[in-house]
Amino acid sequence: MQFSDAMGRMSGEGAFEVLAKCKQMEAEGRKIIHLQIGEPDFDTPKNICEAAIKAINSGNTHYSSSGGIFEARKTAAEYMAQTRNIDIGPEHVIIMPGVKPLIFTAMMATVNPGDEVIVPNPGYPTYESVSNFIGAKPVPMHLREEKDFRFITDELKELVNHKTSLLVINSPQNPTGGVLTKEDLQTIYELAEEYDFWILSDEIYSKIIYDAPFESIGSIPGALKRSILIDGMSKTYAMTGWRLGFAVVPEDMAERLIMFAINNFSCTNTFAQAGIVEGLTGPQDDVDKMMAQFRRRREAIVNGLNAIEGVSCLMPQGAFYAFPNITETGLSSQILADKLLDECGVACLAGTCFGEYGEGYLRFSYANSVENIQEALRLMDELLVKERA
Ligand SMILES: Cc1ncc(COP(=O)(O)O)c(C=O)c1O
Repeated sequence: MQFSDAMGRMSGEGAFEVLAKCKQMEAEGRKIIHLQIGEPDFDTPKNICEAAIKAINSGNTHYSSSGGIFEARKTAAEYMAQTRNIDIGPEHVIIMPGVKPLIFTAMMATVNPGDEVIVPNPGYPTYESVSNFIGAKPVPMHLREEKDFRFITDELKELVNHKTSLLVINSPQNPTGGVLTKEDLQTIYELAEEYDFWILSDEIYSKIIYDAPFESIGSIPGALKRSILIDGMSKTYAMTGWRLGFAVVPEDMAERLIMFAINNFSCTNTFAQAGIVEGLTGPQDDVDKMMAQFRRRREAIVNGLNAIEGVSCLMPQGAFYAFPNITETGLSSQILADKLLDECGVACLAGTCFGEYGEGYLRFSYANSVENIQEALRLMDELLVKERA
């Protein structure tokens, strides 16, 4: 049977491929240290679970409005208004089953076949895959280690033109942990005005930031009319399996995203949306505890990586990923990632899972205990000593 050409242009995600391989190895009795997974290893806070259980028991088990339950939209709008310093209401907020479907539908709503889409590289692979699916051309925006994994302005200026219909940013960033500065955001906004393109800002790690305060491009006066600001519950509240994301968009885009929802999944899980209201308005102690753990682990992994000969790692400014440079080992990203898994039982991702400019790097998720992180690094050191011999 035939499949569509568009389907053939989509690509998968390294993280899910490695997870499948790990499951297979574990089924065969191998012990694996999981440093490949992009999700917090904490449980969803109890108060959030209880709010959803209460919603089920109160009969909130039917279809809800396609853009999201009013109360959840209103809560998300207040949260986004306060954290981004923007003046918006529930009519600007759309709720979907995760950040991913918001990325997908926002791209479908703004990009035509033949358009150019500027995507961070190394970057989250979905942006490039969906651009290809649409028949657009993904144009890599090189995030450079020597710039703390930010872009070089003159290089970016070379990439934009009148075919650019969308530029994607993700700060704090997966996989590098890099954070764009206010000046970077201003540069992007000015280019967007000059060339009249949309900006998709994937802000899923907005609360997982360590040193500088979070900056959103939406806060720049005038930017909201051409911006899609996406955040969600998955990472901040350890709710990856709940599937909850929300976006702030101009009202005329909200109507179009609702059209996608109607034609695709009808609505986001009705009782899960109670988790948005409780999560965003309830006590934040669990988030604070999670952040304290991430800080400890960040220190442990970065110091540990820098102590290994041939490896160097910048301190990530946000998210929960370390992105060490491994070029001095003489091994390619994929070969070293494969050896770590096959020979040491340490699962991580090759930098190339995040695009061509990820060559020479590995991505470690530090959503794991300090003990496991230290054991993984000990095994990596041992492996590299053996490789040098
Ligand atoms: C940058 C980025 N955007 C989106 C997602 C997916 O978010 P969700 O689980 O809400 O669909 C991830 C998950 O790893 C991510 O790293």
